[in-house]
Amino acid sequence: MGAIRTRIEAALAHTLPAADRAPTRLHSAIRYAVLEGGKRVRPLLAFAAGEVVIAPPARLDAVSCALEFIHAYSLVHDDMPCMDNDVLRRGKPTVHVEFDEATALLVGDSLQTLAFEVLSQVGLCENAAVQLDMLSTLAIASGTHGMAGGQAIDLAATGVTLTFPELEFMHIHKTGALIRAAVKLGALSGERQDHAVMHALDQYAKHIGLAFQVVDDCLDAESTTATLGKTAGKDAVQGKSTYVSVLGLPRAKALAEELRQSAHEVLLPLGTRAARLGALADFVVRRQF
Ligand code: IPE
Ligand code: IPE
Ligand code: MG
Ligand code: MG
Ligand code: MG
Repeated sequence: MGAIRTRIEAALAHTLPAADRAPTRLHSAIRYAVLEGGKRVRPLLAFAAGEVVIAPPARLDAVSCALEFIHAYSLVHDDMPCMDNDVLRRGKPTVHVEFDEATALLVGDSLQTLAFEVLSQVGLCENAAVQLDMLSTLAIASGTHGMAGGQAIDLAATGVTLTFPELEFMHIHKTGALIRAAVKLGALSGERQDHAVMHALDQYAKHIGLAFQVVDDCLDAESTTATLGKTAGKDAVQGKSTYVSVLGLPRAKALAEELRQSAHEVLLPLGTRAARLGALADFVVRRQF
């Protein structure tokens, strides 16, 4: 996947405003937030889903930028003092530490609108209805029925012990929704959409979307700050409701493994063209950072 990652990095660097363009401080902070670091899981998922439907790479570049801009914005805001109050992200000081809080707020605002600017560009898709589907998919996944809603539940649940269904609801929203959107945007990038293929891809995305945050919770509990590039052990310190706090580490890990297997099962009818999605399911669950 190295070649695809290199391609994604180039697309991100090229699409973001230049640092020497006014307002230079905001543009520098935007590039700082997005470039250098980050596993690029959502863009990789879009490319892998795109492989199933033989999507044009240029369209996947735009989709990848839109996804990663929303994701980077969510991280910048997630780290701010009013949310998780984190000082380290991707091995560097967080945006509000390196710049200031107002700039961090504006970086998030700007990245969010840039994501929709990129996805709404004229000519991205021959079929305008498909492009509108892409736009509404990303909007819903980012908003109150997706990431932002999940983040609100996360904050309300701090210092409170959630039940298992409540915890699942929170994770599906705060992290699962954007991952599901990543796979759907990749699938929508093909020239035509096959209902059975779209359904299998969505089932896959649901499994790994949930697994992704379960593993994030496990890594927070058992990894180190040096390996993660973000402060380890902070969920327990901050009294966050996580899969580790509710189920315990062994059961949380077993659940992630179950979700990995379920993801592989739903890919079976798609055959070898879904091999990269299978590899990404393994990466999402077995990653060390
Ligand atoms: C971290 O996301 C925040 C969550 C949604 C769990 P990633 O683990 O994808 O972070 P980067 O992009 O690789 O830094
Ligand atoms: C954040 O979850 C999910 C987002 C939508 C950004 P976390 O708060 O667990 O993410 P990290 O651990 O700070 O990356
Ligand atoms: Mg958080
Ligand atoms: Mg956080
Ligand atoms: Mg976390």
